[in-house]
Amino acid sequence: MVVTSENKSEIWLDAEGECPEIPPDLVVKQINEADGLAAWKAHLWPGREKIRAVSSMTWNHETKEAGIDTSLYARVQAKFFALCDRQNEIVAVAAGHPVDSTYYRTRGIWVSENYRGLGLITSVLWAVLRDAADQGSYIVWTLPRKQALNAYERAGFRQDSEFFDEGVLYGPNCYAICKLDTQMIARIRGEIVD
Ligand SMILES: CC(C)(COP(=O)(O)OP(=O)(O)OC[C@H]1O[C@@H](n2cnc3c(N)ncnc32)[C@H](O)[C@@H]1OP(=O)(O)O)[C@@H](O)C(=O)NCCC(=O)NCCS
Repeated sequence: MVVTSENKSEIWLDAEGECPEIPPDLVVKQINEADGLAAWKAHLWPGREKIRAVSSMTWNHETKEAGIDTSLYARVQAKFFALCDRQNEIVAVAAGHPVDSTYYRTRGIWVSENYRGLGLITSVLWAVLRDAADQGSYIVWTLPRKQALNAYERAGFRQDSEFFDEGVLYGPNCYAICKLDTQMIARIRGEIVD
């Protein structure tokens, strides 16, 4: 299905905030790091010199403390997930990596302009959340720009700090988390929850 303004409403998010159906000509898949980084460079952070797949930032939901851990660069690997069309063009992208045994970071959501406002980023974020669950993480955190928070919330995240401008390039940003409890894991794996 080609997405037009007429049929957009058919695939808008349902009221429960579940993952919207993906148009049949699109597929969610893991992509390689080089393709993910190229998409980030072209669309999300044009002009930024060095873009790494792994971020050294940390966030502690309990203490509300942010930190830096550069050992992450050597310790963990990021995975990129994308929604791709039949020509294998990337329509939406997000990435994630573990931080420690509890926390997992996701970042870098982007949706091609023609496909925005359909809730499609949820399908990519849920692929990231499934990876976090598979790796045994319990809290997935992110640092969304203000205009992206609603999209994260539709995917199951909630705001975990006030918005702030200090130290962020495209602010204001805030911290947001998604707890991978039994119910959330069932949701993202498409299992029935009583
Ligand atoms: C943020 C982003 C990933 C959201 O993706 P999305 O799939 O459009 O998300 P949603 O479908 O949940 O819709 C997002 C918003 O766009 C609005 N919208 C509706 N129709 C739209 C359209 N045709 N075009 C753009 N936005 C539209 C939605 O109503 C929604 O508004 P709200 O969040 O204020 O409620 C996307 O806008 C994007 O790529 N932005 C540029 C990169 C960016 O800022 N990334 C975030 C980094 S933290």
